[in-house]
Amino acid sequence: MIRYRIADSMEDMGYRAADMAAEQIADKPDGVLGLATGSTPLPLYEELTRRSDAGEVDFSGVRTVNLDEYVGLPGDHPQSYRYFMQVHLFDHIPIDPANTALPDGMAEDLADECRAYDALIEAWGGIDLQVLGIGHNGHIGFNEPGSVFTLKTHVVDIARRTRIANARFFRGDPERVPGQAVTMGIGNIMAARKIVLLVSGRSKAEILERALCGDVNPLVPASVLQLHPDVTVIADQQAAACIEIPEAAMI
Ligand code: PGA
Repeated sequence: MIRYRIADSMEDMGYRAADMAAEQIADKPDGVLGLATGSTPLPLYEELTRRSDAGEVDFSGVRTVNLDEYVGLPGDHPQSYRYFMQVHLFDHIPIDPANTALPDGMAEDLADECRAYDALIEAWGGIDLQVLGIGHNGHIGFNEPGSVFTLKTHVVDIARRTRIANARFFRGDPERVPGQAVTMGIGNIMAARKIVLLVSGRSKAEILERALCGDVNPLVPASVLQLHPDVTVIADQQAAACIEIPEAAMI
Protein backbone atom coordinates (compact mmCIF):
# COMPACT_ATOMS: atom_id res chain seq x y z
CA MET A 1 0.00 0.00 0.00
CA ILE A 2 1.21 3.48 -0.83
CA ARG A 3 1.55 5.72 2.24
CA TYR A 4 0.65 9.38 2.14
CA ARG A 5 1.74 12.35 4.14
CA ILE A 6 0.09 15.67 3.50
CA ALA A 7 2.50 18.56 3.90
CA ASP A 8 1.30 21.98 5.08
CA SER A 9 3.87 23.86 3.04
CA MET A 10 6.91 23.34 0.85
CA GLU A 11 9.03 23.77 3.95
CA ASP A 12 7.10 21.01 5.68
CA MET A 13 7.50 18.78 2.62
CA GLY A 14 11.25 19.32 2.73
CA TYR A 15 11.31 18.62 6.45
CA ARG A 16 9.37 15.36 6.17
CA ALA A 17 11.45 14.13 3.25
CA ALA A 18 14.63 15.08 5.15
CA ASP A 19 13.38 12.97 8.06
CA MET A 20 13.24 9.97 5.74
CA ALA A 21 16.69 10.64 4.30
CA ALA A 22 18.17 11.23 7.77
CA GLU A 23 16.65 8.03 9.07
CA GLN A 24 18.07 6.15 6.10
CA ILE A 25 21.53 7.62 6.70
CA ALA A 26 21.39 6.82 10.41
CA ASP A 27 20.42 3.21 9.61
CA LYS A 28 23.11 2.79 6.96
CA PRO A 29 25.74 5.54 6.99
CA ASP A 30 27.28 4.34 3.70
CA GLY A 31 23.93 3.76 2.02
CA VAL A 32 22.90 5.00 -1.40
CA LEU A 33 20.46 7.85 -1.86
CA GLY A 34 18.82 8.25 -5.26
CA LEU A 35 18.38 11.96 -5.88
CA ALA A 36 16.27 14.06 -8.23
CA THR A 37 16.44 17.56 -9.66
CA GLY A 38 13.52 19.95 -10.24
CA SER A 39 11.84 22.54 -8.05
CA THR A 40 10.02 20.13 -5.77
CA PRO A 41 13.06 18.59 -3.99
CA LEU A 42 14.70 21.98 -3.32
CA PRO A 43 13.28 22.35 0.22
CA LEU A 44 14.56 18.84 0.95
CA TYR A 45 18.09 19.83 -0.05
CA GLU A 46 17.86 23.03 2.00
CA GLU A 47 16.78 21.07 5.03
CA LEU A 48 19.49 18.44 4.57
CA THR A 49 22.07 21.22 4.32
CA ARG A 50 20.72 22.75 7.53
CA ARG A 51 20.84 19.41 9.34
CA SER A 52 24.34 18.72 8.07
CA ASP A 53 25.49 22.16 9.33
CA ALA A 54 23.86 21.43 12.67
CA GLY A 55 25.69 18.09 12.91
CA GLU A 56 22.41 16.18 12.80
CA VAL A 57 23.17 14.24 9.60
CA ASP A 58 26.55 12.85 8.61
CA PHE A 59 27.14 12.68 4.87
CA SER A 60 30.75 11.53 5.09
CA GLY A 61 29.97 7.95 4.05
CA VAL A 62 26.85 8.57 1.98
CA ARG A 63 26.76 7.81 -1.72
CA THR A 64 24.31 9.39 -4.13
CA VAL A 65 23.11 8.54 -7.61
CA ASN A 66 20.96 10.97 -9.56
CA LEU A 67 18.15 10.01 -11.85
CA ASP A 68 19.22 11.76 -15.00
CA GLU A 69 21.28 14.26 -16.94
CA TYR A 70 20.86 16.18 -20.19
CA VAL A 71 22.83 14.92 -23.17
CA GLY A 72 25.31 17.52 -24.39
CA LEU A 73 25.55 19.69 -21.26
CA PRO A 74 28.84 19.61 -19.34
CA GLY A 75 28.77 19.58 -15.54
CA ASP A 76 29.70 23.26 -15.34
CA HIS A 77 26.77 24.31 -17.52
CA PRO A 78 24.30 26.11 -15.22
CA GLN A 79 21.39 24.05 -16.55
CA SER A 80 23.09 20.69 -16.22
CA TYR A 81 21.80 18.52 -13.44
CA ARG A 82 25.35 18.05 -12.12
CA TYR A 83 25.54 21.81 -11.67
CA PHE A 84 22.11 21.84 -10.01
CA MET A 85 23.16 19.21 -7.49
CA GLN A 86 26.44 20.99 -6.74
CA VAL A 87 24.75 24.34 -6.15
CA HIS A 88 21.78 23.04 -4.19
CA LEU A 89 23.37 20.28 -2.14
CA PHE A 90 26.83 18.86 -2.74
CA ASP A 91 28.74 22.14 -2.34
CA HIS A 92 27.20 22.61 1.11
CA ILE A 93 27.72 19.20 2.70
CA PRO A 94 30.86 17.21 3.51
CA ILE A 95 30.28 14.51 0.90
CA ASP A 96 33.13 12.92 -1.03
CA PRO A 97 32.77 14.07 -4.67
CA ALA A 98 33.64 10.51 -5.75
CA ASN A 99 30.49 9.41 -3.96
CA THR A 100 28.17 11.64 -5.98
CA ALA A 101 27.20 10.08 -9.28
CA LEU A 102 25.20 11.46 -12.19
CA PRO A 103 25.18 10.14 -15.72
CA ASP A 104 27.72 11.94 -17.91
CA GLY A 105 25.74 13.61 -20.66
CA MET A 106 28.98 14.44 -22.48
CA ALA A 107 30.15 10.83 -22.76
CA GLU A 108 31.35 10.00 -26.24
CA ASP A 109 29.72 6.62 -26.17
CA LEU A 110 26.37 7.07 -24.45
CA ALA A 111 25.46 3.38 -24.59
CA ASP A 112 28.67 2.63 -22.70
CA GLU A 113 27.89 5.37 -20.22
CA CYS A 114 24.48 3.84 -19.54
CA ARG A 115 26.01 0.42 -18.92
CA ALA A 116 28.65 1.94 -16.66
CA TYR A 117 25.98 3.80 -14.66
CA ASP A 118 24.02 0.61 -14.08
CA ALA A 119 27.22 -1.17 -13.10
CA LEU A 120 28.05 1.59 -10.60
CA ILE A 121 24.61 1.41 -8.97
CA GLU A 122 25.02 -2.34 -8.74
CA ALA A 123 28.56 -2.09 -7.33
CA TRP A 124 27.33 0.32 -4.67
CA GLY A 125 24.73 -2.24 -3.63
CA GLY A 126 21.63 -0.70 -5.17
CA ILE A 127 19.59 2.32 -4.14
CA ASP A 128 18.32 2.41 -0.57
CA LEU A 129 16.03 5.44 -0.82
CA GLN A 130 15.04 7.02 -4.12
CA VAL A 131 13.64 10.56 -4.19
CA LEU A 132 11.26 11.22 -7.07
CA GLY A 133 9.20 14.04 -8.51
CA ILE A 134 6.51 13.57 -11.12
CA GLY A 135 6.08 15.45 -14.39
CA HIS A 136 2.75 16.76 -15.63
CA ASN A 137 2.70 13.89 -18.10
CA GLY A 138 3.42 11.34 -15.38
CA HIS A 139 7.12 10.96 -16.11
CA ILE A 140 9.58 9.89 -13.42
CA GLY A 141 13.17 10.78 -14.16
CA PHE A 142 13.05 11.23 -17.91
CA ASN A 143 10.96 8.11 -18.36
CA GLU A 144 8.32 9.66 -20.56
CA PRO A 145 4.90 8.17 -21.42
CA GLY A 146 5.29 4.87 -23.25
CA SER A 147 8.51 3.92 -21.42
CA VAL A 148 9.14 0.22 -21.00
CA PHE A 149 8.91 -0.62 -17.30
CA THR A 150 11.90 -2.95 -17.24
CA LEU A 151 14.51 -0.64 -18.79
CA LYS A 152 17.68 0.29 -16.95
CA THR A 153 19.71 3.41 -17.68
CA HIS A 154 19.19 4.54 -21.26
CA VAL A 155 19.12 7.52 -23.61
CA VAL A 156 15.73 9.11 -24.20
CA ASP A 157 14.23 11.71 -26.46
CA ILE A 158 12.70 14.29 -24.15
CA ALA A 159 8.96 14.73 -24.72
CA ARG A 160 7.81 18.01 -26.27
CA ARG A 161 5.69 18.74 -23.20
CA THR A 162 8.69 18.30 -20.92
CA ARG A 163 10.83 20.58 -23.10
CA ILE A 164 8.12 23.23 -22.85
CA ALA A 165 7.94 22.75 -19.05
CA ASN A 166 11.73 23.06 -18.76
CA ALA A 167 12.02 26.02 -21.18
CA ARG A 168 11.80 28.35 -18.17
CA PHE A 169 15.42 27.44 -17.48
CA PHE A 170 16.49 28.00 -21.09
CA ARG A 171 15.45 31.61 -21.70
CA GLY A 172 11.86 30.47 -22.24
CA ASP A 173 12.73 28.69 -25.48
CA PRO A 174 11.81 24.95 -25.70
CA GLU A 175 14.20 24.64 -28.67
CA ARG A 176 17.12 25.43 -26.37
CA VAL A 177 16.22 22.56 -24.05
CA PRO A 178 18.40 19.59 -24.99
CA GLY A 179 16.45 17.04 -27.01
CA GLN A 180 17.89 14.04 -25.22
CA ALA A 181 18.80 12.89 -21.75
CA VAL A 182 20.41 9.91 -20.09
CA THR A 183 18.02 8.59 -17.48
CA MET A 184 17.83 5.75 -15.04
CA GLY A 185 15.13 3.47 -16.30
CA ILE A 186 12.02 2.44 -14.45
CA GLY A 187 13.84 -0.86 -13.83
CA ASN A 188 16.45 0.98 -11.74
CA ILE A 189 13.83 3.03 -9.91
CA MET A 190 11.69 0.01 -9.06
CA ALA A 191 14.76 -1.81 -7.70
CA ALA A 192 15.21 0.92 -5.05
CA ARG A 193 14.37 -0.44 -1.61
CA LYS A 194 12.30 2.60 -0.68
CA ILE A 195 10.84 5.43 -2.71
CA VAL A 196 9.64 8.85 -1.65
CA LEU A 197 7.60 10.78 -4.19
CA LEU A 198 7.37 14.54 -3.65
CA VAL A 199 4.51 16.40 -5.29
CA SER A 200 3.30 19.95 -4.95
CA GLY A 201 0.74 22.20 -6.57
CA ARG A 202 -2.71 21.99 -8.10
CA SER A 203 -1.25 21.47 -11.57
CA LYS A 204 -0.05 18.00 -10.53
CA ALA A 205 -3.33 16.88 -8.90
CA GLU A 206 -4.90 15.11 -11.90
CA ILE A 207 -1.76 13.29 -12.97
CA LEU A 208 -1.04 12.22 -9.41
CA GLU A 209 -4.53 10.75 -9.13
CA ARG A 210 -4.17 8.94 -12.45
CA ALA A 211 -0.75 7.63 -11.47
CA LEU A 212 -1.65 6.35 -8.02
CA CYS A 213 -5.32 5.44 -8.37
CA GLY A 214 -5.70 4.62 -12.09
CA ASP A 215 -4.59 1.62 -14.09
CA VAL A 216 -0.92 0.71 -14.11
CA ASN A 217 -0.01 1.72 -17.63
CA PRO A 218 3.24 2.76 -19.35
CA LEU A 219 1.36 5.76 -20.73
CA VAL A 220 1.49 7.08 -17.15
CA PRO A 221 5.01 6.02 -16.14
CA ALA A 222 4.56 6.89 -12.45
CA SER A 223 1.67 4.41 -12.25
CA VAL A 224 4.32 1.69 -11.96
CA LEU A 225 4.86 2.88 -8.39
CA GLN A 226 1.64 1.07 -7.45
CA LEU A 227 3.64 -2.14 -7.92
CA HIS A 228 6.44 -1.09 -5.55
CA PRO A 229 6.31 -2.44 -1.98
CA ASP A 230 7.56 0.69 -0.18
CA VAL A 231 6.40 4.05 -1.52
CA THR A 232 5.72 7.15 0.55
CA VAL A 233 4.05 10.11 -1.15
CA ILE A 234 4.60 13.50 0.43
CA ALA A 235 2.19 15.90 -1.21
CA ASP A 236 0.66 19.24 -0.38
CA GLN A 237 -3.13 19.66 -0.17
CA GLN A 238 -3.30 21.03 -3.69
CA ALA A 239 -1.44 18.13 -5.28
CA ALA A 240 -3.47 15.60 -3.29
CA ALA A 241 -6.79 17.33 -4.09
CA CYS A 242 -8.07 14.59 -6.44
CA ILE A 243 -7.15 11.60 -4.30
CA GLU A 244 -9.33 10.08 -1.63
CA ILE A 245 -6.74 8.82 0.77
CA PRO A 246 -7.88 5.95 2.99
CA GLU A 247 -7.35 6.77 6.67
CA ALA A 248 -5.09 3.72 7.04
CA ALA A 249 -2.73 4.99 4.35
CA MET A 250 -2.08 8.34 6.04
CA ILE A 251 1.07 8.78 8.05
P1 PGA B 1 9.39 19.76 -10.80
O1 PGA B 1 9.79 18.59 -11.80
O2 PGA B 1 9.75 19.27 -9.43
O3 PGA B 1 10.24 20.92 -11.24
O4 PGA B 1 7.92 19.99 -10.96
C1 PGA B 1 9.28 17.31 -11.57
C2 PGA B 1 9.58 16.44 -12.77
O5 PGA B 1 9.43 16.91 -13.91
O6 PGA B 1 9.93 15.28 -12.56
